[in-house]
Amino acid sequence: MPAYTLKERLDIARVIAEQAGQMIRQARQEQSFGRHYKAGDELVTDADVAVDRFISDQLASHFPGETRLSEELSPDQAFSESAPQLWVVDPIDGTVNFAQGLRHVAVSIGWMEDGVAKMGVVHAPFLEETFTAAEGAGAFCNDQPIRPSGANELARSLVATGFPYQREAREALMPRLAAVLANCRDIRRNGAAALDICDVACGRLDAYYESVSPWDFVAGWVIAREAGASVGHLYDVPTDVPEDLYSQHLLVSTPAVHSAMVRLLRDADSAA
Ligand code: IPD
Ligand code: CA
Ligand code: CA
Repeated sequence: MPAYTLKERLDIARVIAEQAGQMIRQARQEQSFGRHYKAGDELVTDADVAVDRFISDQLASHFPGETRLSEELSPDQAFSESAPQLWVVDPIDGTVNFAQGLRHVAVSIGWMEDGVAKMGVVHAPFLEETFTAAEGAGAFCNDQPIRPSGANELARSLVATGFPYQREAREALMPRLAAVLANCRDIRRNGAAALDICDVACGRLDAYYESVSPWDFVAGWVIAREAGASVGHLYDVPTDVPEDLYSQHLLVSTPAVHSAMVRLLRDADSAA
């Protein structure tokens, strides 16, 4: 197997993500996808599975032997010592948006080495934006450098979040929502975690918090970190999971509001 540089990995992953985006646009145009439900209420379309299959085949042919964690085809492929190189893929982030005809939809492809997220591509086919980053090389949107906002107080901060598909799990998140609405500029629920994180990276949003799955955040995490945003968790990360793969209690924000956001959200949790 050739030893790829990070830049080469990024270039290949970007082409794959943009081709996947083309499949997504076509599926919407033709309305050619079936709708199903997994785990009760969670929508999955035929397009999610077809795009995952396409990305997976492409990665397998370019990077044989490297492990893939992807939402539809291999969601249980957790990080292990035997997977020093790991691709983390969400074929369609924003499935409900996709099925409803909304535009906040993304393909998310991240790559980790020895537990550290090093490369990420988030492509939004309907917004015609591709966010990219590789460790140490900065972050870009459509090849233009990006950086987070200059927000430095909660009252002027626009905050995004999301909610789990399981309705019974939403109640516990209400105190955080109330705290944000009471203390920040406002809230957004745009429906694609990868794009929420990229929107913090490029300064359209000031903070984002949520508990998600690895494929929702790994690529965006690299992009936000490389852009100069603060990426972290509201609570300590268990010692048996790499920080860059631990998807619970994420907080991504512009640096000057990070510690105030941590306090706000933790206080909301403990008052619940
Ligand atoms: C979902 C979106 C949503 C977030 C959910 C995710 P999916 O991903 O990112 O914004 O709130 O937690 O599951 O199911 O559309 O790939
Ligand atoms: Ca997702
Ligand atoms: Ca998905």
